[in-house]
Amino acid sequence: MLGLGVVGSAVAQAIQRRSCDSPHGSSPPLDLRGVLVRDTSRQRSVEVPAGVISTDPASILENDRISIIVEVMGGETPAFEYISAALRAGKHVVTANKEVLCKRGDELISLAAENNVRLYYEASVGGGIPILGTLSDDLLANKILSLRAIINGTTNYILTRMAREGTSFEDALSEAQALGYAEADPTSDLDGFDALYKISILTRLAFHSSAPVDAIYREGIRNIHAKDFRYAQELGYTIKLLAVAQRADGGLLLRVHPALVPLDVPMAGVNGALNVVEVEGDLVGPLWLQGRGAGAEPTASAVMGDLLRIARELHGSGAPVRYDGPGLHLLPMDEHECMYYLRVTAVDRAGVLAKIASVLGEAGISIRSVLQMDTDDERGVADLVIMTHSAREVNMQSAADRLRNLDVVAALDNLVRVETYSDVD
Ligand code: NAP
Ligand code: HSE
Repeated sequence: MLGLGVVGSAVAQAIQRRSCDSPHGSSPPLDLRGVLVRDTSRQRSVEVPAGVISTDPASILENDRISIIVEVMGGETPAFEYISAALRAGKHVVTANKEVLCKRGDELISLAAENNVRLYYEASVGGGIPILGTLSDDLLANKILSLRAIINGTTNYILTRMAREGTSFEDALSEAQALGYAEADPTSDLDGFDALYKISILTRLAFHSSAPVDAIYREGIRNIHAKDFRYAQELGYTIKLLAVAQRADGGLLLRVHPALVPLDVPMAGVNGALNVVEVEGDLVGPLWLQGRGAGAEPTASAVMGDLLRIARELHGSGAPVRYDGPGLHLLPMDEHECMYYLRVTAVDRAGVLAKIASVLGEAGISIRSVLQMDTDDERGVADLVIMTHSAREVNMQSAADRLRNLDVVAALDNLVRVETYSDVD
């Protein structure tokens, strides 16, 4: 491995966890044999075996016992030279480095082909989002019509914090750096270079066209101020840094710039370090891939996917790769826990609510809110809408049976589970 920073440490951890968790023979073995860094005395967030860390690239690139190189250093130089040397030496390469892939990708891809080795770089675009595999494999039958993306986690994080909490640009940038989203030199993020590298890589795969840096329009987010969010919001918009590749007039227009995005479109809700790539193919139509676009673990997910793909090929095909622990037993629905919405037609008189609440209370179900909606004076009944706090399914079903038989309940008209969503931005 070349580099043991934010991404490298998470990859090293994933390799180690894997070799501890997987039973022998269930998965191709991965053995971390060398790690290149600049400063061996630096404190690391992961422990690697003594003697593995080095500042000498030759100890890794010329080591015949190493078959795969993971490049997570970043930058064009010396990453280009190291990746080239590895490919020439017959080693497979996995990299998360969009800069080198954008600027020198054509040369590296040819070199990998000449040497009959793999060069995979899923982590270079969109962090954990499997966008490159989707474009190069799953959408192979499509003519791609357009790509529109939020593909820089740092700027999306900054813009989100400025829009939602009025955080200053500088504070939001410091947070993004602390969270490991920003590049070593955050200029690359802020001025739109990082997004430009990524749209160039996507363009090569989606449109089979080379997209050099100077052919792409680029503008960063430094000129966006707090009041722009206020004014945009008044007009029904938010502000996002977009990277777009669109067919137009028989050609391709590539652009990276901040843009006003209507508040009622899904892209406006892609917040924090989340990224999204909207692809339009002639067969599939519009497709939407969203996920964590920066940070140690999501990026390690993409690096590990590439690494395991190569390891599986080297190890012989067919070996199972995913290992989640021993087989899981399936749970009965009774175990499910959630909030519930109940719609009840109840007699409209004093004490009714207390009776209903007592049935729920005896089943250990706490009420979150109650609304009395339509009343039917002729029948002397009313619609009660009850939202509960989280409860177990088995308890709710037994309470529902009791409610149906309660003298003050004309009907339990509906019982709907409330789905909870974890906040991922
Ligand atoms: P980082 O935290 O700055 O880590 C870089 C690592 O590379 C450090 O361990 C550093 O060594 C080593 N290194 C740098 N230049 C070197 C050189 N010339 N010789 C030897 N070692 C060198 O960077 P990162 O955030 O992990 O990013 C790594 C790559 O992944 C970049 O290409 C980045 O664009 C890409 N990426 C990052 C993210 C993310 O969220 N962070 C997401 C997707 C892709 P020392 O530790 O000794 O300084
Ligand atoms: N600096 C990059 C970002 C890391 O903020 O999106 C992921 O490539």
